[in-house]
Amino acid sequence: MEKDPQFLEMMKKIPTVLAPSLAEDWPELPVIKAEGAYLYTADGKRYLDFTSGIAVTNVGHCHPRVLAAAQKQMNEMIHSAVGVTIHKTLLELCEALPKVLPTGLDMFFFGNSGAEAVEGAIKLARYVTNRPGIIAFEGGFHGRTYGAASVTTVKSKYRNHYEPLVPGIYFAPYPYPYRCPFGSTPEATMEWTLQGIQRLFQHQIPPQQVAAFLVEPVQGEGGYVVPPVEFLPALRKICDEYGILLIVDEVQTGFGRTGEMFASQLVGVTPDIISIAKGIASGFPLGATVANHELMSKWLAGAHGTTFGGNPIACAAALATLDVIREENLLENCRQMGKRFMTGLLNIQKKYPQIGDVRGVGLMLALEFVHPNSNKTPYPELTMNLLNSMLEQGLVAYMAGTYGQVVRFIPPLIVTAEQVDEALGIVDASLAKVVG
Ligand SMILES: Cc1ncc(COP(=O)(O)O)c(C=O)c1O
Repeated sequence: MEKDPQFLEMMKKIPTVLAPSLAEDWPELPVIKAEGAYLYTADGKRYLDFTSGIAVTNVGHCHPRVLAAAQKQMNEMIHSAVGVTIHKTLLELCEALPKVLPTGLDMFFFGNSGAEAVEGAIKLARYVTNRPGIIAFEGGFHGRTYGAASVTTVKSKYRNHYEPLVPGIYFAPYPYPYRCPFGSTPEATMEWTLQGIQRLFQHQIPPQQVAAFLVEPVQGEGGYVVPPVEFLPALRKICDEYGILLIVDEVQTGFGRTGEMFASQLVGVTPDIISIAKGIASGFPLGATVANHELMSKWLAGAHGTTFGGNPIACAAALATLDVIREENLLENCRQMGKRFMTGLLNIQKKYPQIGDVRGVGLMLALEFVHPNSNKTPYPELTMNLLNSMLEQGLVAYMAGTYGQVVRFIPPLIVTAEQVDEALGIVDASLAKVVG
């Protein structure tokens, strides 16, 4: 791959042209080409991308079918302010998505991002129930707009200086087995969460005033925290008992990431509202708030809107993405490669007491680092050293967790056994290097 010295020179301008709130993330790679599971940078290097643009490029970067569909659409129409003009790809997507979504979810409000899909869900829930309360979960992440930030508690710095946030939002403990004070068994973890919910009902908001629970089926930013399988069904039951809506945020878990199209399907739960984005269109900005016909038809004209949502090119890319996931059997590949990767990570854990927990589902896998011989004291310095060391060896992964103590791996669903093994080799060698 050719180098691009001019691009490298321009990188120096970042501190003067990009807001540090965004630009000072990690690792600031100057990418000139992205293809399949690889990124190619301006200094002539190639990286195995185990971030997938934070769970977006599930079918790999620049999949030829996605590219062709987007290019074809671009020749026909680039923009449609949905409502003023309707385009065919939008209606085709409305036909295709219900075939893969949890049963009955068949009406859509399209936006451009995950945060918008969550905003829409919160607004819809309050609008149709006429109730104020939203119960979200500690350690959750739902986006950066005001509503989405108000239901986000993964890190206090995401909320700092923004108070007062949207009112009427309450938080229950997420069933985080590794860090549950009652113990790590499913029973103990569930007890912790259910008691927390009952305490909210008792002390802060009666269930009759709660519009919705908002939950990630696996916490993403929170550190790929996988709850017990009983969790979503238990929430569903509480919702049904009190007429509360269940909003499941599948922005990160959706479109095959867990080995099912949606994580709710892993435990057989049908949400009332689902928020989707990220992997939906392989990198074109698209998101949606989805509900069934009965619920969504109560959201009357003018109650919510958008200029760009449901963009034709993004919709064309989404249709192609769905075809690729199905025709290339990517759910099965996700399950198989996820198993291979998980087995490898568990083997690596045996050598390093700093790895407190190995967890995940499908191809969202994580290592949680703690100081050895401590009471699970988070070890974020090791996380950063490991990420940097892996980067030097050509593997890009990403951090997560409230303390930055988690390394998450988000390979594309097209990943091969050779690429998984190569990544495992790099994880092992890098750990050996950074723990000395
Ligand atoms: C679960 C979840 N919800 C919402 C969002 C926000 O999505 P976006 O960054 O597209 O606004 C994210 C982003 O990481 C996410 O992981």
